[in-house]
Amino acid sequence: MSRKRTRVGPLATPESTADPLDVDALLDDQNTRIIVCCGSGGVGKTTTSASLALRAAERGRKVVVLTIDPARRLAQAMGIEALENTPRPVEGVNGGPGSLDAMMLDMKRTFDEVVEGQASPEKAKQILENPFYVALSSSFAGTQEYMAMEKLGQLHRDAVETGDYDLIVVDTPPSRSALDFLDAPERLSSFLDGKFIRLLTAPARGPARLMTAGFSMMTNALTKILGATVLQDMQTFVAAFDTLFGGFRARAQKTYALLQAEGTAFLVVAAPEPDALREAEYFVERLTGEDMPLAGLVVNRASTAPAGSLDADEAMAAASRIDRTGAGDPEQTPGLTVALLRLHADRIRIVEREAVLRRRFAAAHPAVPTAVVPALSTDVHDLAGLRRVGELLAAQR
Ligand SMILES: Nc1ncnc2c1ncn2[C@@H]1O[C@H](COP(=O)(O)OP(=O)(O)O)[C@@H](O)[C@H]1O
Ligand SMILES: [Mg+2]
Repeated sequence: MSRKRTRVGPLATPESTADPLDVDALLDDQNTRIIVCCGSGGVGKTTTSASLALRAAERGRKVVVLTIDPARRLAQAMGIEALENTPRPVEGVNGGPGSLDAMMLDMKRTFDEVVEGQASPEKAKQILENPFYVALSSSFAGTQEYMAMEKLGQLHRDAVETGDYDLIVVDTPPSRSALDFLDAPERLSSFLDGKFIRLLTAPARGPARLMTAGFSMMTNALTKILGATVLQDMQTFVAAFDTLFGGFRARAQKTYALLQAEGTAFLVVAAPEPDALREAEYFVERLTGEDMPLAGLVVNRASTAPAGSLDADEAMAAASRIDRTGAGDPEQTPGLTVALLRLHADRIRIVEREAVLRRRFAAAHPAVPTAVVPALSTDVHDLAGLRRVGELLAAQR
């Protein structure tokens, strides 16, 4: 039998045409001021952000990480289970000149703060107590994305003012799509500014001439559906909010510009699966289209090849032979040997399939440096785990 030996150690990855991402160069570059980790839900954005932030801090940067939805145990390990909406120091970071502060985004609190910062105290109170505002600020699709951007803007202003931080690492919300983060501010302001809301709130906004027959038919219908109080609430809310529109838009645009700035680096995190990588491709294209600086792709939770020199075909052939003849290791039952050989073959095939997906991505986007992080055997829920992921992120050569 021909022996095609592929030597793959536990962390080695099959060749792909992409350049390896140099994580330490990115973290050590004093010009890197903001790192944004995006990607579709569940791929490891929060883990990657926290790992990068810890590594940067332990390499001497003054870092703050804005996490959005850390798993409970990770939040505990970082001392951020309480929603305080301000950064606090993480205990257990290895000494040196660097430091790490962390926070978890409180979406509603952030929204409230924006309102308080923009409106007079009475007007702010009126808005904050409005039921429609309460609903919007805690559940409107896109609010979390918008508030993550808002908080990033705030952290950046503070960092510039106080000099407390020289690197901000940002996690992004668990959206279905990575693009939601970029679209949210526009979506929120066009919702508030939109035709529908304008029509709906026309009476509150003024000119009675808008009260056409069609319009009152519509409000009557809506009153039936929503109830008079809800409609009234919406109208009062939008009227009160009206003066803030300019402020909101201007802030969103500022943060958008910040994302396009030179010191910003986007990392797209993806799982080694067709859907996640396709999503990552859309995102890469969008970033390029918007002039947003992409630092690279992180393929997280990659499968690793089992040790040994049997390739998948050889393992399957051996399994069939033993299955047929019953000739196995005399110490073991043939059935177990056959099962192990098949498992071995399966794992190799998964690793190969993932490599094909990565090569496909690299062929479409050859300029995107890539880091591959293997799936660890346990969840990442403490500083040691984050440190390990940081090492793996940095060990791409
Ligand atoms: N490389 C990895 N190996 C093992 N577990 C991982 C790895 N990366 C992430 N995880 C785990 O996967 C889960 C989802 O990760 P998380 O970072 O919260 O994803 P996201 O923020 O994209 O939703 C968490 O429980 C985390 O501990
Ligand atoms: Mg997350």
